[in-house]
Amino acid sequence: MACETITDVTPLEGESPFLLACRRKPVPYTPVWYMRQAGRSLPEYRIARSGMGMLEACQQPELIVEITLQPLRRYDVDAAILFSDIVVPLKAVGVSLDISPGIGPVVENPIRDASDLQRLRPLVPDDVPYVTEAARALVTELGGRPLIGFAGGPFTLASYLVEGGPSKTHDRTKALMYGDPPLWNALLGRLADITLAFLQIQVAAGASAVQLFDSWVGSVSPDDYRRSVLPHCKRIFDSLAATGVPRIHFGVGTGELLSLMGEAGADVVGVDWRVPLDEAVRRVPPGKALQGNLDPAVLLAPWNVVEARARDALGRGRAAEGHVFNLGHGVLPETDPDVLARLTDLVHTESARAAGGI
Ligand code: CP3
Repeated sequence: MACETITDVTPLEGESPFLLACRRKPVPYTPVWYMRQAGRSLPEYRIARSGMGMLEACQQPELIVEITLQPLRRYDVDAAILFSDIVVPLKAVGVSLDISPGIGPVVENPIRDASDLQRLRPLVPDDVPYVTEAARALVTELGGRPLIGFAGGPFTLASYLVEGGPSKTHDRTKALMYGDPPLWNALLGRLADITLAFLQIQVAAGASAVQLFDSWVGSVSPDDYRRSVLPHCKRIFDSLAATGVPRIHFGVGTGELLSLMGEAGADVVGVDWRVPLDEAVRRVPPGKALQGNLDPAVLLAPWNVVEARARDALGRGRAAEGHVFNLGHGVLPETDPDVLARLTDLVHTESARAAGGI
């Protein structure tokens, strides 16, 4: 469903299906949004960003609003996600880093010892005025459709800071976690403070749900997660409880961690494509909604495959107390936006039919 202008984003009447599903309440249809829906796969995004660095773009309120809304003009998704990046708050407190095109975050002086921690001072609202301004403007533009705020999880942020850039195996990060628990805990404590503040700032500006992207935490074992990561995530989620907004917790390759991620305190646990949703229901403690979990690569296959896989995920998702349809990780850059538009409509009509609504 392609729409031309922002005003074509239809206001929702009553409570949003996305928020209802996060709260495990009955929904007229399964709500859907896509991780990384704002950005790289959209031609209009490339035009809006042309000649501008990623971090520079993340500091311009009008551009943040525009890029956040772009996917909503193409897809009838049930939520918008703020255009930003997990390293924006680190940059805002003065860490010298950049996002290299096609590579990801690169940190000039990686964290090596306790003296490096001083570079991670607490984040205050004045550090990110552009986030507050953009989120406020978006809430008005969205006319009741929820805005999702987000931040990076402490392990994932630590990985960029310790490795100095993207890593497949996170060896140095884990060496620090195994070898120097006091420094590790001090580092994750500071990162959790920054992440918590960044999420609180977005909620104060009107975000009606938050997602913690601990994308790379699937590289640790359950015992290590429980000992070295969970307490920091739990503090973030516990501190957010007072805001009343749904809290989503996502990581990749976290099949063995789903139960512990549930324990960390989010309302919704994100599941990647490796664990079917009905199996994820058995792994996550009761009282949680699930989000996921179509393999983003499925969208590159012919439509009949996309359709069959989406129906399968929807069917399995019915075993959950609440289900927010999503991909198992972010939209791949080469994804055809028309396929996402079609998928969004399929999720809505199929789930409404199954719920007896159509
Ligand atoms: O979901 C959305 O559409 C909102 C925007 C968003 C971005 N990054 C914009 C972005 C979100 C939610 C993120 C989160 C993020 N950033 C994560 C967690 C999600 C995940 O994918 O696991 C991580 C690990 C990062 C760090 C990061 N930023 C990487 C690894 C990269 C390079 C790879 C890539 O995605 O192209 C970035 C850059 C980045 N962040 C881009 C966008 C749109 C591409 C920059 C460009 O267009 O030049």
